[in-house]
Amino acid sequence: MKIELSDKLKTFKPFLFEELYRKERAERARGKDIISLAVGDPDIPTDRRIVSAAVSELRKAANHRYPNTKGNENLRREISAWHRRRHGLSFHPSDEVSILIGSKEGIAHLPLVVMNEGDCCLIPDPTYPTYRTGVVLAGGRIHDVPLEEKNGFLPDLGRIPAKVLSRAKLFFLNYPNNPTGACATLDFYRDLVKWAKKHGVIIAQDAAYCDMYFGEPAPSILQVDGARDVAVEFYSASKTYCMAGWRIGWVVGNSRLVCALNQLKENIDSGPFNAIQNAVAYGLKHHESIVPAVRAHFKRRADSFCRALGAAGWRFIPPGGSCFVWAKPPADVPSMDAVYFMLEKASLLTAPGSGFGRYGEGYIRFSLTEPDSRLNEVLRRLKALDWSSLK
Ligand SMILES: Cc1ncc(COP(=O)(O)O)c(C=O)c1O
Repeated sequence: MKIELSDKLKTFKPFLFEELYRKERAERARGKDIISLAVGDPDIPTDRRIVSAAVSELRKAANHRYPNTKGNENLRREISAWHRRRHGLSFHPSDEVSILIGSKEGIAHLPLVVMNEGDCCLIPDPTYPTYRTGVVLAGGRIHDVPLEEKNGFLPDLGRIPAKVLSRAKLFFLNYPNNPTGACATLDFYRDLVKWAKKHGVIIAQDAAYCDMYFGEPAPSILQVDGARDVAVEFYSASKTYCMAGWRIGWVVGNSRLVCALNQLKENIDSGPFNAIQNAVAYGLKHHESIVPAVRAHFKRRADSFCRALGAAGWRFIPPGGSCFVWAKPPADVPSMDAVYFMLEKASLLTAPGSGFGRYGEGYIRFSLTEPDSRLNEVLRRLKALDWSSLK
């Protein structure tokens, strides 16, 4: 029997990063010493105190039972306490906080709770690809909002056509930004919230890199007066606590949206393992003694990587945060050509800007999530490359 797959599935292309992983594995199988800076997967191990907390939680039989979808009270309270310390915000742990199986999961599900067929979702270009997933599942339409260098990679709200706005239901954003490394100010968020209220658009701000800032602490959109009427914010333990493999994140903000997302998820999943939830609660409680060293490490890497990249003839955007460097190679060529050139001639795998959207064309994203010695080797290989053969 030939299994016929759904029309919806056919609308999904392979996830960009999975495609890059496959490429990396294939090249390694051919015996090449590939260094991949294609994916933002922190190389720094989870702090050993968080690991110890998880080990002792693992031994508790009570944690072996089903968790609940919204997350356990211990973690929701610690999240609430952390936002109070960090942003001066109070969230009610029971209806303004919900735990996710990684922020990617919540991001993919959110459109299903607010969008009907034909509604429009505004998505930045270049973008983190998962914003599109839920919109496609919900039968929604996508309007790409350019993030351009001349605007500091912030959207120009005035340029979104009125016709699009009349159907727009949701706007995904992420700052500190993947892939550009740009940061947003509280003033930008003030304008955004005012605009969102005027046009009836829900804002989903993705703060996965909120703790990887290199200047002033990255603000939360929810610090804007009245933002809670229109916005939710997604958080992730993946980068902040280098816990990408543990799969846990959370959403805070507008209680109607948080509860609706939870209501949908109750029908789909049962939340992350309680031992992991309690390990993250430990991380949040001891955040100030764990996270600054990680941030300093990424800032040091970004500074020295950018300096050397510039010396190798690249034009880079100094990142205000994130674990990425967004840069243009010495030759003016399509991103994909540059990626294949670096892979073939230098055994380096990077992410093509065009994979993040039309406005990413011409750029390359480097993810600084390999050990320093490997990053130095990347720079040595990049310096040795002769781009004139590609022009
Ligand atoms: C902007 C952005 N949001 C969300 C995620 C997903 O993070 P998580 O590991 O919490 O699912 C990523 C992962 O790379 C990301 O870059």
